Order: sequence, then structure tokens, then C-alpha cells
Amino acid sequence: MDYQNELSGKVALVTGGTKGAGRAIAERLLQAGATVIIAARNAPEKENSKLHFIPSDLSKAEGTQKVVSEVLSAYGRLDILVNNLGSSTTPAGGFTALSDEDWESTLQANLLAPVRLDRGFLPQMIDRKNGVIIHIASIQGILPLYDSTLPYAAAKAGLRNYSKSLSNEVSPKGVRVLTVSPGWINTGASKAWLAEIARNANSTVEEAQQGVMQALGGIPYGRPAEPEEVAELVGFLVSPRASYLSGTEYVIDGGTVPTI
Ligand SMILES: NC(=O)c1ccc[n+]([C@@H]2O[C@H](COP(=O)([O-])OP(=O)(O)OC[C@H]3O[C@@H](n4cnc5c(N)ncnc54)[C@H](OP(=O)(O)O)[C@@H]3O)[C@@H](O)[C@H]2O)c1
Repeated sequence: MDYQNELSGKVALVTGGTKGAGRAIAERLLQAGATVIIAARNAPEKENSKLHFIPSDLSKAEGTQKVVSEVLSAYGRLDILVNNLGSSTTPAGGFTALSDEDWESTLQANLLAPVRLDRGFLPQMIDRKNGVIIHIASIQGILPLYDSTLPYAAAKAGLRNYSKSLSNEVSPKGVRVLTVSPGWINTGASKAWLAEIARNANSTVEEAQQGVMQALGGIPYGRPAEPEEVAELVGFLVSPRASYLSGTEYVIDGGTVPTI
């Protein structure tokens, strides 16, 4: 099969596609021949005129509605939806430090944004008996790290569960639904964070990386994932080569989760 053109004629949306894993996924789908739309609050720093950018705050119902309307009026359909957006901005300090607003904003971005986008795009996928939806969760949905990421881990656990239920409902109607749960990814934000840890501890970036890996309980493969490695998995899952895959979860973590 010609992998270079295997998504030719397909229309794909990658949420949070301006940075990190989302950007790598968007570029991987472009390489495979898809028409790719990306949505985020701010325009991408790295310009790529082939990516159709829609500015939107997807943690708000109006933001998801705007993206659904613009995509369907510009292209008439969506074949591939990669719900990649996810973030955790809540403070450290345990459960008492977390307000209702912290919980609500985390649930909006990590759980309700995918739910609303799926609801907006599914009817035309079901009508055409064709479509793939990917939910990017996290190993924190299986292996919670408490403290500041408590709401994020709970939201990602909810996303995994919802993804499976949705697959049960729409797989018989021709739409595949899958979950991808990455471990630590070496994104631009992660690189900046490591550099800051190293600066504050007067250590090297390599030492800071070892410290983070230890806090995760170790990464057997010895390093975080590159965004392109996550993108390669997604590129396969949305392709015709994965035509029988639905309702399953793919953990990409270099062996971090210690259980089978
Ligand atoms: N990085 C990791 O180690 C790691 C590990 C496990 C799972 N994950 C998951 O992998 C996915 C990608 O993570 P990442 O680290 O690659 O992300 P990232 O580098 O932090 O990029 C986040 C993207 O989402 C956009 N975004 C954030 N809030 C938004 C909002 N309210 N509305 C619209 N767009 C918004 C950002 O652009 P704007 O800020 O301009 O909106 C950006 O494009 C997420 O689901 C994350 O939970 C990441």
C-alpha cells in the first residue's frame, strides 16, 4: 500500500494541532495526503500554509460549535476527528487546593470538548457509514498521579470510559472510535519545563529528565516519547490499514505503566 497517499481525499480535524503531539499528528496526516484542519486558541508559531487553522477556545460550548459549523460549511463533511486537546493547569497542593473552577475548567477541556465535538460531527459520519474518532487520553487515566493533576487524571479516566461506550454505540453504524493513551511526551512545553527544573536545581537537563522519570516510577525504555512517535501510531489507527480496530485503547509509554 502507498502509505504516502493512503488518506488522500479524507478531511481530518486535529484539536490542539498547533503544538506538541497535536502538531506532529497534523503533519503526519498531511503527509498521508489528508486535508487537515487544526483548532486552538492561538495561531501556530510555526507557519504551515497547508494546515487550515480555526481559532477557537474548545473548552467552551460556543468554541466547539464554531469549529463544527466552520468545518462542515467549508468541506461538507469530516472523516477523521483527532480529539488531541488536553491540558492540566491546576495548582499543586492536594485536594484542598483545588476549587470548583479548577475541576470545571479541567473537565471542560479534557472531557466535554471531545464529547461536544463528537456529537457535532458524528451525525454526518453515521449517515455516510464512515469515520474515525480518536481520543487522546493519558496513562494518568490508568495510573493517577495525585496532587496537581488530580482533576486531569479523573477527566482522562472518564474519557477512556466514554470512548469505549461511544464505540459500542457507533461501531455498528460504521464509525471506528479508539483511545490513545500516551505516557510522557517530549513536547516543546516539556523541554522548557525540564530546562526550568535544571536551572532551579543547578543540574543538567539529563539529570532533570532522570528525576522526572523516577517520579513516574521509571520508564523502562529510558526516555520520553517523541511527538512524532505518537503521531505515527495515530497515523496508522486512522488509516484503512486499521479497518477492524474499534473500541480499543493503545498505550504508548515506553513501558511506564507497570501492570499488564
Ligand atoms: N505531554 C505529555 O507528556 C502528555 C502525556 C500524556 C498525555 N498527553 C496528552 O496528549 C495531548 C497533547 O498534549 P501535548 O502535551 O502535546 O499538548 P501541548 O503541547 O500542551 O499543546 C496543547 C495544544 O492544545 C491547544 N489548547 C490548549 N487549550 C485549548 C483550548 N481551551 N481550546 C483550544 N485549544 C487549546 C494549545 O494551543 P493554545 O494554547 O493556543 O490554545 C496547543 O495547540 C493532550 O490530550 C494531553 O493530555 C500529553
